[in-house]
Amino acid sequence: MAAIEIASLPLPPSADASKFFDFGRELRNVNPGALTAEQFKEIEQLLYKHSVLLFRDVNLTPEQQYALVKAFDPTSESYGHGNFKTESIKKSILHPHLRTIPRQPQVQLIGHGVVYNHEGLAEAELQHPSHKTFHKTRVSEEDDAKGVTRFYRWHIDAALYDLAPPKVTALYGISVPQSPKQVCRYDDGTGDELEVPLGTTAFVSGKMMFEILPPELKSLAVRSKVKYAPHPYVWMATAGAKSNGLGIETDGLEPSLDELPSWEESKIQILPVLWKNPVTGCLHFIVHPCGVVELLVDPLPDGVKRNDALYPDGAHITDLQTVRDLLYKMQRPAIAPNLVYPHDWQEKDLILFHNRGVMHSVVGTFKPDQVRVFHQCNLAASDMPVGPDVVDVKNWA
Ligand SMILES: [Fe+2]
Repeated sequence: MAAIEIASLPLPPSADASKFFDFGRELRNVNPGALTAEQFKEIEQLLYKHSVLLFRDVNLTPEQQYALVKAFDPTSESYGHGNFKTESIKKSILHPHLRTIPRQPQVQLIGHGVVYNHEGLAEAELQHPSHKTFHKTRVSEEDDAKGVTRFYRWHIDAALYDLAPPKVTALYGISVPQSPKQVCRYDDGTGDELEVPLGTTAFVSGKMMFEILPPELKSLAVRSKVKYAPHPYVWMATAGAKSNGLGIETDGLEPSLDELPSWEESKIQILPVLWKNPVTGCLHFIVHPCGVVELLVDPLPDGVKRNDALYPDGAHITDLQTVRDLLYKMQRPAIAPNLVYPHDWQEKDLILFHNRGVMHSVVGTFKPDQVRVFHQCNLAASDMPVGPDVVDVKNWA
């Protein structure tokens, strides 16, 4: 069998290529729907090394998409947010954004517009997530008409309650409306903006997010864990997000924890801020800032002296504004326009991404007559992510 051809991703001019040397690859001369065992092994290594893999001109059934994602975690079974049987999930703000493929419930139909006779669904009305329903402020009607848009929400694909964060997500573009580029505006006081294809999926590297931090924030990150709210998507739904999609404004709009659907303490997730890559050993900064309620900081390890240390004796930070300010300070540098990969979707593109290594955001605003059809699959993992080890802490604290 011919070798898999490995090329770089098609970076836009906005991206600083020197920052993307190990990020993203396009794989050619291989059919991701029918991999041999050797091909899968190679692709698995490539995914963990490069975080995002693009395949073009792919034909992929929902069954094949599920099988491909499952191969990365063979004992995983249910969709990353569960298979949409419980009331709490139905109440979640994710629900209007996707429809389950009936015969392969781990694969979700997402996109925009009305879709007929699709994989067993007679009619599905889809809504591309829009910043207008999630951000505290919104782009004006005039700017909207000119094609100004925003990042919807920087996130990882994960329930962050009960179910373990999926290792891999597969996004498959079936119908992709073509249209002029839009301008994704950050509106966060920096003046940053990014030219993007309509409906791009924007990715940033969690490894870069850690690497570009100054030493005192690396020290804080390597010693920290975040605690997520129970049913975090229900909890965040009534609040207003920041204008660049990187977390929530603190206006006290979240429900109190006893107003949430019933929950169990044992299912709440406390996860390290840095997740260790299973192949490279690198540390990736992976935090879904919208769902975090508390920050738990370990003290500096014995023998480490650092004059600039934040919380040298450790801390349990429960003030929401402080928690969010600290996370924002650590995460915002990595979403700078030159560090974002906004994928320019073509029909039959398949993207596999390391969901424990990157953060991503939906972007863009579709018109009612623009029909977009995608299949998305990820699976609640069979294990929890691993944080920094003793050596990592020694190196970075
Ligand atoms: Fe996502």
